[in-house]
Amino acid sequence: MSFPFLADSTNTGTTGVKTILVTGGMGFIGSHVCVSLLEENQQVIIVDNLCNSNKKVLSRIEKITGKVPAFYSVDLMDEEALSSVFKRHNIDAVIHFAALKAVGESSQIPLSYYHNNITGSLVLFKVMEKYQVLNLVFSSSATVYGENNPIPYAEHFPLSATSPYGRTKVMIEDILQDVFKANPKWNISLLRYFNPIGAHPSGLMGEDPNGIPNNLMPYIAQVAVGKRDVLSVFGGDYPTPDGTGVRDYIHVVDLASGHSKALQKLFAAEFPSIDAYNLGAGKGYSVLDVVKAFEKSSGKDIHYVIVPRREGDIAEFYADTTKAAKELDWQVENSLDDMCRDTWNWQQKNPNGYQS
Ligand code: NAD
Ligand code: WQD
Repeated sequence: MSFPFLADSTNTGTTGVKTILVTGGMGFIGSHVCVSLLEENQQVIIVDNLCNSNKKVLSRIEKITGKVPAFYSVDLMDEEALSSVFKRHNIDAVIHFAALKAVGESSQIPLSYYHNNITGSLVLFKVMEKYQVLNLVFSSSATVYGENNPIPYAEHFPLSATSPYGRTKVMIEDILQDVFKANPKWNISLLRYFNPIGAHPSGLMGEDPNGIPNNLMPYIAQVAVGKRDVLSVFGGDYPTPDGTGVRDYIHVVDLASGHSKALQKLFAAEFPSIDAYNLGAGKGYSVLDVVKAFEKSSGKDIHYVIVPRREGDIAEFYADTTKAAKELDWQVENSLDDMCRDTWNWQQKNPNGYQS
């Protein structure tokens, strides 16, 4: 492994500046979080094996912030390489995004999902313990609420999963509960994201799915830009106001500010703890609401056809955001229209994502 040149890569500990290691920092959410940390003058170190991201993200981060984070092209499962990063930097906290995330694919190749997400996390936590870096923000998901909880979802609800991907998130949350029980010096924030969409307002960063998008918003954006002909709306007979599925969409920039708030809480804590927080807007929009909002923002017609339900989907869910508002002093600022505007800006400027 080669080390990047970094004049100011280690934290002197005198300025209040923190050094944050971001696993998966080249990905959709991680890249936005890196921008927001750099804008707050934190030091950022990215570890990412680029299995679902593009190296161009680094120059986009630099264009937005004027700063270049340290970047290591390292797989989390490579314990030796990961240890070298911890040895080289005086890390204050880790934000752990790196994971495989496609729900459908996880049922086809479950072993790859368990191996990457679980083993990668175990290696990371082991190395963190070795170097006594015990502040952790973990990327969890609303999928941990399974299919049997009432809405809105609250953090104390029982967890379950409907896919191997979802099970990796439940398992890692359980592992972290055990880790904290064994060593209460760990200080952990489990952030359960609802449906992150949107893009950086500059149009320089956004979601760049490989192949046919699995998720609603990137699919709509590709229809709008003419890359795909028609959106398949999965199910028009759900017990929802217009019959289509309802979700809690959150702007990725709001999600990023939730991470800053979670870190602030970890650093300010008198006593370490492990806490889960929902990061969502706290309200639901249907598939057709999103289609209409996108048409308004883009001025394009989004052709759609209603097809049978997608296996594993549920009718409706959204977050109870009371705990995040109260304990993290966090709430969303962007509306669905803002999310559509910024997605459209990104899609227009980068019709082929980072390949453009
Ligand atoms: P993403 O795929 O864009 O980013 C993940 C990054 O992790 C990629 O850059 C990938 O190259 C990297 N990575 C994966 N495995 C790795 C490994 N073993 N070693 C090093 N790097 C590795 O995904 P995202 O949408 O930014 O999601 C980030 C996190 O948030 C994931 O943990 C995901 O499960 C979680 N999450 C995402 C959503 C969503 O809808 N996007 C919702 C809830 C939770
Ligand atoms: C949203 C709505 C679909 C695509 C997934 C994961 C979840 C979390 C977020 C990681 C649903 C409908 C979609 C399409 C459609 N990720 N839809 N046509 O399924 O709510 O959540 O991403 O943790 O775990 O499951 O998001 O964007 O796929 O779907 O009609 O082409 O759009 O049925 O109602 P989902 P999504």
